[in-house]
Amino acid sequence: MNTQIKKITPESLEMAKNLLLEGQVVAFPTETVYGLGAYAYSQEGIARIYEAKGRPSDNPLIVHIAPNFDLSQIAREVPEGAKALMERFWPGPMTLIMPKNRETIADTVTGGLDTVAIRMPSDPSAMALLSYTGMPIVAPSANTSGRPSPTSAMHVYEDMQGKIPLILDGGSCQVGVESTIVDLTDEKPLVLRPGGITLEMLREVIPEIDLDPAVKQVRSVDASVVPKAPGMKYRHYAPKGYLILTQETPEEVARDLEEDLQTISGDKLGVIATDEFWQEMLKAAPQLEGQVAMISLGSRRDDMETVAKRLFAALRQADELTLSRFYGEAFSREGVGEAVMNRFRKASSEWRER
Ligand code: TXA
Ligand code: MG
Repeated sequence: MNTQIKKITPESLEMAKNLLLEGQVVAFPTETVYGLGAYAYSQEGIARIYEAKGRPSDNPLIVHIAPNFDLSQIAREVPEGAKALMERFWPGPMTLIMPKNRETIADTVTGGLDTVAIRMPSDPSAMALLSYTGMPIVAPSANTSGRPSPTSAMHVYEDMQGKIPLILDGGSCQVGVESTIVDLTDEKPLVLRPGGITLEMLREVIPEIDLDPAVKQVRSVDASVVPKAPGMKYRHYAPKGYLILTQETPEEVARDLEEDLQTISGDKLGVIATDEFWQEMLKAAPQLEGQVAMISLGSRRDDMETVAKRLFAALRQADELTLSRFYGEAFSREGVGEAVMNRFRKASSEWRER
């Protein structure tokens, strides 16, 4: 199959609509990451998503809707507290879990669950597609299962070339990490996946909301604590090399790298960190320059939003550079740092605490 990449125009939107109606899959940008979209009522389209991604079928999909969409088409009830969140954060990077409308939402969308995940994206391209088609569109992140989520049309092309007919190109994603998933269907309101809408922001509306216990642990998944979002149990975002996520100081990482250079031969070494971290490292060990690849997450003077925006591209770059052993700078879990550390941790093979 020939995969076309097209900017958003009336023609490309019409093409996307026809493809979706035919049960085909179309990739499109959102403010978080690119999605692999299918018409939510098309069994063929849904099946093609799982096939193109190589995704386990027990991992449910998020239904994306336009601002004027009638929720009762897909949800049988709006949970208490959800209205206030929708008013505050929709359109935007927040997904809400609701009891599903069993007549319209198939088990193939929800992995057999009785709930459905719903999101109203704010990205202008995503909005254009959803409004133009008027369709509810199911979309997981448009990466091959297990790879870092795509934050540009080129990332999607890397993974989906030859597998899907169309990629709508809306440039780089503004947020860079997937939406915050909020579940209000149980007694205790929970964040099932941290994202661009932070816990602090949610607490302004629902003070008692908390992180799912499985998300709270920074260490790799303890099998006894099962995450409520099925997708959160997979390792995910995994680069090909061995990533050590570390709270060590730049000086300590410099020492680690010098040791690696002496003891391990044939390894390609690197660091994913802010510019300031790298500068400190070089001050401690100038000889590392040229021997160790630097992948920048931006300047710390900017903020965690910049780090979030760059993280997935950085992980893909590590693969491109064929790094076999590399270090990642750990951040504070405040604000969007929670989402950054959640994804970074899932991508890493080792976690070093101070
Ligand atoms: O930002 C996003 O949410 C992106 C863009 C494309 O919108 N989409 C995305 O989809 O991240 P995906 O499929 O990569 O992640 C969906 C997550 C999975 O962890 C899945 O298990 C969870 O949502 N999920 C979906 N339906 C659920 C449900 N009914 N109950 C609990 N978790 C659910
Ligand atoms: Mg995903």
